[in-house]
This record gives sequence, structure tokens and C-alpha cells, in this order.
Amino acid sequence: MSGLYVFDAYGTLFDVHAAALRHKDEIGASWDKFSQTWRQKHLEYSWIHAQTGRMVPFWTLTERSLDFAAASVGGIPPATRDKLLASFRTMQSYSEVREVLETLKARGAKLAILSNGDPDMLADAITSAGLDGVLDAAISIQGAGIFKPAMRVYQLVLDRFGGTPAGVTFMSSNRWDI
Ligand code: LAC
Repeated sequence: MSGLYVFDAYGTLFDVHAAALRHKDEIGASWDKFSQTWRQKHLEYSWIHAQTGRMVPFWTLTERSLDFAAASVGGIPPATRDKLLASFRTMQSYSEVREVLETLKARGAKLAILSNGDPDMLADAITSAGLDGVLDAAISIQGAGIFKPAMRVYQLVLDRFGGTPAGVTFMSSNRWDI
């Protein structure tokens, strides 16, 4: 088997709720709601920026959405905010990810990430999840200058690897991304 497999990053390979889970005692009883709100606002802000065409680093949206989520649960201590951001940068993958990627690679597939994440965010996540050397490319939307789901983001995959859309298997936990 060969082929090109492209994965969304956050919520698909990397567990976006791990940061809040790790610090749930500091966030309090609403940590789950906090984490859901953080994720939802993160996406919502990226959609608004994609619509308006005004770009900011994805990291900026990570911070802004965290602050919205924190306010929605009555606030969190500044030290907890710092820890959550540090945890977001050093993400773990879902437990099956490494084995799935290595199995595909052993079968001759090419593997890549296509993500809203800034290049340095993706590099940190790949390293902290132990996926260095497994992926052939980590493609940030920054190359397109717009967030998903703008169509020119998906063109980045073909620009990098050649071929046609029919030759790409794209996987995302976000239905709107597919
Ligand atoms: C990403 C977000 C959409 O990684 O999960 O692009």
C-alpha cells in the first residue's frame, strides 16, 4: 500500500482536552465545560478570521479563546493560565496515533499534517507527542495566509506533494474540515 495520508492536528492527532484535564483541580469543577468552550471558541475565532481575511497567529487565538473560556467559568488563576498554555504547546497524541502512523508508514504511505497551527506550535506538538521522524511534512496554513476551511489551504497539500485530490486521504475529527 502506498498513498498520501493527511491529518488535521488538533483534536485529530493531538488531544486538545489533555491540557485542561491535567490542570483540572486548579480550574475547578467546571473544567470540562471550560475545555469545551476553549476548543469551540478557538475554532470560532479561526472561522471569523478566515471570513474577514485578517490573519493572526493561531497562538494568539489559543490565548484569546483560553481567556474567553476562563471568564465563562468565573476566572482562573494567572499561574494556571500559564500552565494551560504550556500544556497546550506540549501536546500528547491520542493513544493509538503513533501505531497507526507507523503502520501506514511501514506500508509505504506518505504522512503529513495540515493544520491551522503555527509552524512552531506544530513542531512543539510533534516533538512532545514523540512523532519526530514519523511524518513527512507538517503543513501550516500560514503558507496560504488564511485559516481553514478556505479552499486554498487544502491546495497546500498538492503544492507540497503534487498529484490530485483523489490521491489524498484526508482525516479530520472536524467534519467542517473534511
Ligand atoms: C487544526 C484544527 C482545525 O489543527 O484542529 O487545523
